[in-house]
Amino acid sequence: MSFFIAGTGRAMPEKIVTNDDLAKFLDTSDEWIFTRTGIRRRRVLTHERLDDLAVASARAALADAGTAGADVDLILCATMRGDTYTPSLACTVAEAVGATCPAFDLNAACVGVLYCMEVADSFIAAGKAETVLIVSAEAMSKLLDWTDRASCVLFGDGSGAMVVKKGEGRLAGVLSTKPDSHVIRMPNFEGLNSPYNAVEQEKQAMHMDGGEVYKFAVNAMGSRIEDVCARAGLTPADIDWYLPHQANIRIIDASLKKFKIDKSKVLTNIADYGNMSATSVMVLLDEFAKKGTFRKGDKLLFVAFGAGLTSGAEIVAWQR
Ligand code: UT7
Repeated sequence: MSFFIAGTGRAMPEKIVTNDDLAKFLDTSDEWIFTRTGIRRRRVLTHERLDDLAVASARAALADAGTAGADVDLILCATMRGDTYTPSLACTVAEAVGATCPAFDLNAACVGVLYCMEVADSFIAAGKAETVLIVSAEAMSKLLDWTDRASCVLFGDGSGAMVVKKGEGRLAGVLSTKPDSHVIRMPNFEGLNSPYNAVEQEKQAMHMDGGEVYKFAVNAMGSRIEDVCARAGLTPADIDWYLPHQANIRIIDASLKKFKIDKSKVLTNIADYGNMSATSVMVLLDEFAKKGTFRKGDKLLFVAFGAGLTSGAEIVAWQR
């Protein structure tokens, strides 16, 4: 007995930034960005706070599940950085939805939601929770160097959420780390003024070796698909829907190619949102759930990779 997905929601910033908008201040083009990544546009925070998006997506998922905040037993937020170091984003969400349960943030970069699903499964299996609210919210635009065309064109902001409840649904999950602190590195570059600090502050916003990440991503996504299917006693052909992390359409195509997966089973929305880190798979799930794409019993496979380097996959049967 594990969990099923009882409700989903999302909340996006209003501002849409196209590739042509970026070409106004960067040496880039819609043609380069689209052919290399599949991205056409992304949403970017302007007047909104990330907290507000997280609360809005959490409320949408709770309403979709017909669940009151007070009835949630655990709140998990996948984020690299909320608006405040403390309170955590999860505590901010708990306050807004009227929950008093345990609430904490989890940082596994783009794989954060999958890590949260594993934690939710463990709490439910241990009898410590029956209803878990998982929220992801990422303000990538505030972590990037907007003069670095090799990285800032790839990302977008947003929030998504899901409510999971004790029951049949989740079939298997796998998580992995291939520790590497150099391939993607995003130092905390806010100035501190401790008179005792003797460590030089890293000034760079984000360093990414795109080619190395690409190679890791293709291998990791393919391997996690194999691992999670084996754990569930399934083959990749048994999966009805693939929900891959939306980092680059070429990474998605390359990692699924070896399984000869019918492309119509692979869900993408990278053209509209870019890479929203942990939030990507949540927004993908909510969009296609709201379109009525999934039928009861359909097997959904989530797969992601990210900084750390982290990777993971989950298979959940749709029960609504
Ligand atoms: O969640 C994890 C996040 N990270 C990723 O998923 C990144 C994974 N890696 C990738 O998606 C790809 O490696 C990129 C999209 C980042 C880069 O694509 P690529 O085909 O590997 O291009 P490249 O790095 O080999 O660059 C090719 C050229 C270079 O120029 P030269 O050296 O050939 O003259 C770059 O300077 O493209 C140039 N370039 C750009 N040109 C126009 C790099 N960024 C841009 C840009 N616009 N935005």
